[in-house]
Order: sequence, then structure tokens, then C-alpha cells
Amino acid sequence: MVEKRATHGGTCLNVGCIPSKALLHASEAYAEAAHDFAGMGIKVKPELDLAAMLAFKDSGVKGNVDGVEFLLKKNKIDTFHGTGRITAPHTVEVTESKGKTQLATKAIVIATGSEVAHVPGIDIDEKRIVSSTGALSLPNVPKRMVVIGGGYIGLELGSVWSRLGSEVTVVEMLHTITPGLDGELAKQLQRILQKQGITFKLGAKVVKVDAKGKGVTLTVEPVDGGKKETLECDVVLVAVGRVPNTEGLGLDDVGVETHARGRVIVDHKFQTNVPGIYAIGDVIAGPMLAHKAEEEGVAVAEDLAGQAGHVNYDVIPSVVYTAPEVASVGKTEEQLKEAGIAYKVGKFPFTANGRAKVNRTTEGFVKILADEATDRVLGVHIIGPDAGTMIAEAAVLMEFGGSAEDLARTCHAHPTLNEAVKEAALAVDKRALHM
Ligand code: NAI
Repeated sequence: MVEKRATHGGTCLNVGCIPSKALLHASEAYAEAAHDFAGMGIKVKPELDLAAMLAFKDSGVKGNVDGVEFLLKKNKIDTFHGTGRITAPHTVEVTESKGKTQLATKAIVIATGSEVAHVPGIDIDEKRIVSSTGALSLPNVPKRMVVIGGGYIGLELGSVWSRLGSEVTVVEMLHTITPGLDGELAKQLQRILQKQGITFKLGAKVVKVDAKGKGVTLTVEPVDGGKKETLECDVVLVAVGRVPNTEGLGLDDVGVETHARGRVIVDHKFQTNVPGIYAIGDVIAGPMLAHKAEEEGVAVAEDLAGQAGHVNYDVIPSVVYTAPEVASVGKTEEQLKEAGIAYKVGKFPFTANGRAKVNRTTEGFVKILADEATDRVLGVHIIGPDAGTMIAEAAVLMEFGGSAEDLARTCHAHPTLNEAVKEAALAVDKRALHM
């Protein structure tokens, strides 16, 4: 294992999923204490200690990276802390602080992930113009924050700072947030986030950022034409996507082929055009998600060990960790329409779920899309409390090729939020019980 960071775990553990979820958890608890506790008979006036909250996040990261370090040792994996470069098909050169080491190996797996995509003309200084990394460690709550990009990072980290007191404006180029998400959920999510205080400027592009003065001035232009406007803020978060990390790997020298957008081309066994060199994760095609990369990592290891590795790309869940969460697996309505597949829809709102009612978390719904002819579940989309955990039962069902009827006939414990999933499955054939 060759790793250039001081700690293992990559973007996800060090500056991605784990620290952002720590801040989402803490800021959600803060907002709940401020706005929701009183409704349950708990009187408190929370006070923010941002330095302590950031330390809490850092300790969560440390716990996780230490865990990976322990697992590497336990599994007797040799590790090198340095930068790796492929110098020949079976050779990796590692540049460490003490010098260079040549590693001879049967197989090389490129798992270098991705890095922040930049907007031309906007320089990230990680102080006032930050990427997701800087947004995880702001020393003060900015009075006003502008987020460029209404995708996963923009909405999650925008939520964090909005809950802690920032006036957050999200500028998104498209006419919808979270492109790729089922359109009905994207609209509902936008409505809920607006209610929480986030402002959206859709169909708008940031054309200039001026950070010379005390604050930052952004010039925003409607993509369909029209008048430019300026926005003033204290911090800008650039969250316009990520790009594969292949620079300095030596790919050109050994002749590894990449797509025009920089992703490494692999076959169904994750092998590149150069025998013995494989690639997985954000650096190849597909959604840039840690759990997708993990499945590919296991599959390539199984293949290299002579077993039959396989990843089912039709069943990769995705979750936006806003409040409420948004979780999806399989096809969206838009994708089914485009593919000309006839489908049935079953929907059930959390307002009709007993547990959500007493928990006071009734925003959102479950939507199940099943094949019109066979009843096979093709997609499940949940916006609601703990949707990220709930989506797992849909993923298991789909992995087994299950139908809406299978889900509807499965006994779900009462009172749980998951009963809304069963009810949505019943609703596919218009026989929900509690509506
Ligand atoms: P994203 O691809 O989710 O969203 C980027 C957004 O920026 C898009 O809506 C796009 O239309 C918009 N955009 C692009 N250029 C723009 C411009 N010049 N002005 C305004 N809007 C513009 O990318 P994001 O949020 O940066 O996340 C990066 C990656 O990390 C994604 O692949 C995401 O899947 C992953 N991620 C996953 C998380 C999760 O699983 N919960 C959490 C955070 C990140």
C-alpha cells in the first residue's frame, strides 16, 4: 500500500465523508436543541463552541484513520508513506522523505481517487474561497456564505454552516439542485432547505469572484441570458464536482489509456489496457462514491486471488446527508421514461407514519418504482428521516431481483420509519393500509 498522506483512509476518512458527517451530526443536534427541543418539553438555549465542535470532528477522523492503520497491521499489509509512480508495468517507484524505493509487483491497482474541480478564474485559498476541505475547518461562522454548486457537497456543507448561523446562498448552473436525483425528490429537498433558511439561485453561473476587499463580491449571470447581479459574502464554497486524480502517476509513460475527461479506462475485470495494471474507484467511470469504490476494491482483490469478483452497478445506493436525508437506489422516473420502460409508482408520506409523527420528523416520502408488467422493483427513492439507513432494505430487495409484492408481504416492525417503505410497496398496487 502506497499512500502519500500522513494517514490512511483517503479523501473519505480524512477530508470527506467522515468529517462532514461529524459536522452534520453536531450541527443538526445544535439546530434541534435550538428549534425542536421545546416542542418536546425540553427547555435549553444552546451555545456554540465552534473550536470544540471542530475538535470533536477531528477526533472522529482520528478514530477512523487509526482504525484503518490497525486493520492494515492486523492483515500484515506492507505500507509505504510516499508518492507512487508507475515506471514500468510491474514496477512502482515510491518517493518517501528518506529517498526512493522501487517495488516489483505482479499487479498494480490504481485507487488514487479524485480531487476538487476548479472553476476557471476562481482561485481557492482555503480561507475565504474554500473547497470542501477548507469548509470543514472554518475558524468562525461566516455571516454570509455563497456556495457554488447545488450538488452533494454544496448542500451538505451549506446545511452545516446554515444551521450554525450563516446566511447561505447556493448558486447552481442547472435549473434543478442535485442533478441525477429523481426530480420529485430534488424539488421537495429544495423546498425543505429553503424553509430551513437556505436561498437558491438556480440557472445561474458565477462569472467573477473578487476577494480583494474585506468581503468577497461575486458576479452572477443567468445561464439563459439576462441581467448580471452581484452577491456579497464572507466565504465562498466551491463545490462544482471532482476530477480524477491521475497526475504524476506515470500513466502516459507506461501507456495506460484514459478518457478525454481523465478517467482511466478499464475492462470488466478492472484491468487497464496494460496487463497487470488495474484501476478502481473515483479514478474510473461511475459515481464518485466511497462505497462504489469499496465494492470495486473487493472485486479486483477477488479476481486477483482467482475468485469471481463482481459489482452490480444497478444497485449502488446514494445518500445526501441533509436533514432530512435523501436516499436513492436504482432508476429514477426520468431514467425510466427515457428508456421507454412502463412502470408503476407507489408513494407513502412520512406524515402518515406513526413513528415519524411522534418523532416530529414527518417531512418527506418513500417512492417505489416497479416494472408495470413484472412488478420487479426498479428504483426506490426516499426523502425523510434516516433515509440513508432505510435505503438498505431496498438495495437488498433489488439485489435479489425482488418485486413490490415481496416487499409488501414482508413483516416490518411497528412502530418504525421503515413501515413507510412497506406502505409504499403496497401503494404500488394502490392498497396502502394507512392512507
Ligand atoms: P456534484 O457533482 O454532486 O455537484 C456539483 C454541482 O455543481 C452540480 O449540480 C453542477 O451542475 C454544479 N455546477 C458545476 N459548475 C458550476 C458552476 N460554474 N456554477 C454553478 N454550478 C455549477 O459535486 P460535488 O457536490 O462537488 O461533490 C463531488 C463528488 O463527491 C460527487 O461525485 C459526490 O457524489 C461526492 N460526494 C458524495 C457525498 C455523499 O455520498 N453523501 C457527499 C459529498 C460528496
